[in-house]
Amino acid sequence: MKPSHLGPAEQLFSAEAVEAAIQRMAVAINADMEPLVPHRPVVVLCVLSGAIVMVGKLLPHLHFPLHLDCVQVGRYGSATKGGDLQWRVRPRESLSGATVLLVDDILDEGVTLGALQQFCRDEGATAVYSAVMVRKNRPRVEDVPVDYVGLEVPDRFVFGYGLDARELGRNAPGIFALMEG
Ligand code: IMP
Ligand code: MG
Repeated sequence: MKPSHLGPAEQLFSAEAVEAAIQRMAVAINADMEPLVPHRPVVVLCVLSGAIVMVGKLLPHLHFPLHLDCVQVGRYGSATKGGDLQWRVRPRESLSGATVLLVDDILDEGVTLGALQQFCRDEGATAVYSAVMVRKNRPRVEDVPVDYVGLEVPDRFVFGYGLDARELGRNAPGIFALMEG
């Protein structure tokens, strides 16, 4: 697909490269999570909407009991605390005593993921792991711990594999960067 409706774009990673990265993440996640079972299924929290593709690709490679749940949040300005999250979709099940794996599309400033990690801890999760498909190479105000990273991208606006540019491009088969200017 040529994502021309978004203007000129450069392909950073092919679909094959993204899928290989997701598979490598699955190997690392399995190594950490398999010893935790059979205590209780891991709660995989898909951060909507961007992580939908990544979660769909990841799940068939995970070999431990899990429950799939979703969250969707917006931010009130530059909110940094969990309490400042603007909720659109909350998790259906209680996180109390659970091991949670948060899955997001991209780590940019890290504000949203940091706030979601805090939310999970506030809800009583015993352990909170985070996986992102791509991490943007940029300075961050806060250090947000991320356990699994698929690919590193430069500090540019990217889309594809679930990531959107003005809601378009989520279906682009690879990771693309918009050309500046
Ligand atoms: P932040 O980490 O709180 O700054 O916000 C992260 C969210 O912003 C991600 O979950 C994405 O939805 C969105 N985002 C940040 N950078 C990009 C990008 O380059 N492309 C698409 N979405 C992005
Ligand atoms: Mg997002």
